[in-house]
Amino acid sequence: MRSTLVSQFGDPRQVIALVDAERRAPGPGEVEVALSLAAINPSDLIPVTGAYSARTTLPFVPGFEGFGTVTRIGAGVQSPKPGDRVIPIGASGLWQEYLIRPSEWCFALPDDIGDADAATCYVNPLTALQLIEALRQQFGSLERRRIGVTAAGSAIGGMLMKLLAGAGADAIGIVRSKRSADRLTRDVPGRAVLGDERSLPELRLDAIIDAVGGPFAGELILRTLEPGGAFIQYGALSGVPVPQGAIQARPDIRFSFLWLRSWVHSAGRAAVEAAFAKSFEGLRSGLFSSRIAEIYPLSRLDEALAHQADPGRDGKLLLDPRC
Ligand SMILES: NC(=O)c1ccc[n+]([C@@H]2O[C@H](COP(=O)([O-])OP(=O)(O)OC[C@H]3O[C@@H](n4cnc5c(N)ncnc54)[C@H](OP(=O)(O)O)[C@@H]3O)[C@@H](O)[C@H]2O)c1
Repeated sequence: MRSTLVSQFGDPRQVIALVDAERRAPGPGEVEVALSLAAINPSDLIPVTGAYSARTTLPFVPGFEGFGTVTRIGAGVQSPKPGDRVIPIGASGLWQEYLIRPSEWCFALPDDIGDADAATCYVNPLTALQLIEALRQQFGSLERRRIGVTAAGSAIGGMLMKLLAGAGADAIGIVRSKRSADRLTRDVPGRAVLGDERSLPELRLDAIIDAVGGPFAGELILRTLEPGGAFIQYGALSGVPVPQGAIQARPDIRFSFLWLRSWVHSAGRAAVEAAFAKSFEGLRSGLFSSRIAEIYPLSRLDEALAHQADPGRDGKLLLDPRC
């Protein structure tokens, strides 16, 4: 079967190989899923670079998000059944034609969720919901709270802006380009500001939800957060950690991390099912819809990865493992 493989850490465009892999039968308690579409997310590529080398075992098949149809089930599996559309989660491996997962890590996908929505219904919607929940735990009501969202032009940034506005917060999307600021102003509620010297001195924030890290996050912590505020980090698109000096200089701020994988592995199946139900609701209303820039056959992975690295990319890329 068509598959991908990372055998050494490095630049994703150089180390993710297209390979012909053996298709094995599901064992007891396992199901085989024929994958229909998989997403390319920043979080798929970070482990490939070796950033988490201590907890990443080589070789591995990348891809944490996508959906497919159950083709075969192993002994003892009651549900799902062959023919069911499912979202297999809990481990990487979706950038290939067929995936074997334990049945308890497959979640039912309602028929009315279209293919592109199905391929993007997990990572960003569930993380956005958890980030809002973390804010609620600190502040209670988010009504009129001034919440900054960095990299607000990202797929999850747009979801966060909509969720915050829906909760009555003053949502402020902080972006790095005028193009993104204009698009944000047009497409999502809340305000958009450029993260530059003109805007920063005027920002007064109760909380920041950050996916950028690096010196920029340090500036935001030192210059924009009100005493008693919150800083939640959930990404590091700059490739650089948040400076420790900035964290130490603000003992009045509550710092935390949020990683979807940790939550999914500790929350229990019922909580994950409830979160998926909210994701489907949000997809039906448009709240969680991601703009799709292009769908590539898996056999054209090179082109897809080049497009993913293009700073002008305008939306999510999906892979079709069937071709
Ligand atoms: N912790 C978790 O469990 C978790 C879960 C989901 C997502 N995330 C993180 O969330 C982030 C966004 O994911 P996504 O899927 O929404 O990504 P995406 O849709 O691919 O969007 C990436 C966008 O972020 C902006 N960006 C990239 N580098 C930037 C930088 N250095 N400074 C400012 N903006 C930058 C760019 O927007 P412009 O067009 O405005 O330049 C780019 O288009 C990633 O870091 C990802 O790892 C974490």
